[in-house]
Amino acid sequence: MAERRPDDMVRITTPELADAFIDEQIKELRAQIGDKKVLLALSGGVDSSVVAALLIKAVGQQLVCVHVNHGLLRKGEPEQVIKVFRDEMNANLIYVDAVDRFLDKLEGVSDPEQKRHIIGEEFIDVFADEARKLEGVDFLAQGTIWPDILESEAGIKAHHNAGGLPEDIASRFELVEPVKILFKDEVRVVGRQLGLPANMVDRQPFPGPGLGVRCPGAITRDRLEAVRESDAILREEFEKAGLSGKVWQYFTVVPDFKSTGVKNGKRTFDWPCIIRAINTTDVMEVTVEHLPADLIDHLVSRITTEVPGINRVLYDYTPKPPATVEYE
Ligand code: XMP
Repeated sequence: MAERRPDDMVRITTPELADAFIDEQIKELRAQIGDKKVLLALSGGVDSSVVAALLIKAVGQQLVCVHVNHGLLRKGEPEQVIKVFRDEMNANLIYVDAVDRFLDKLEGVSDPEQKRHIIGEEFIDVFADEARKLEGVDFLAQGTIWPDILESEAGIKAHHNAGGLPEDIASRFELVEPVKILFKDEVRVVGRQLGLPANMVDRQPFPGPGLGVRCPGAITRDRLEAVRESDAILREEFEKAGLSGKVWQYFTVVPDFKSTGVKNGKRTFDWPCIIRAINTTDVMEVTVEHLPADLIDHLVSRITTEVPGINRVLYDYTPKPPATVEYE
């Protein structure tokens, strides 16, 4: 199939243009899918959420969403996916609690590439297991967007059709990619018009391997919880300070070493928590956001008081290059 965004396509920047796109897609999706079923891996990220909302409007219960909780999601994410899609949009949603399956496989694995590989492979296995259980599903929906296609054509990143699924599964499905001619900012405008919550539509980028790459070295459940809790505090404070829509990406990292501290007159021996907040346009070059000193003081106080296992907070002032955004 020719991969092209029409040269004369108007950039979707307004609610009216988004409505027109939504109407047209609903017609096309209904014509393509008919009375058949469609499967979608719904992570809760912007692209898959917008695809889910479009398909719910177009074919309702014929859409089967699978949300895999691999234990590396941010605090509140699985709950939000269930609330928004199952409770509010009445979607047919299968929730798979695969936390133990992933964390058991990752136990003792410290090599970053091996960690990524295990997370990717395991995700496909879990999703393929769910797909094999379902009968009468002819279509697979994906949140492919226009930059994915451009990067794939330029040989920068594989635009993995059918998400690397094994052949016995992939060959069963015809692909449905309703946002593939959109840029990210257009996907967000469409998402807003579809009624998705602002914090889902305006979400900062989040890597596929999730908090796994922010828990450097071998992941342990207690250190992973420290990453999740400190990240939740950082996001809450950025929201309150009006920074959440302004800073490109911000998160915490809890490295695998301990240092001495003191709390209530007693010695502690705990991990540091590193804060990273960066800005960029293309993620090839990144600058550091300079946070107000009172916000840093407040974050240090909250994180060291509220997050078990943390006795020190550090701020990463390194741009890219020489550092990358993520630690692994
Ligand atoms: P780096 O660390 O390479 O990150 O400077 C650049 C941007 O890419 C995101 N990132 C990932 N996204 N899967 C993803 O979907 C990954 O494995 C991955 N690794 C990094 C990172 O969060 C940043 O926005």
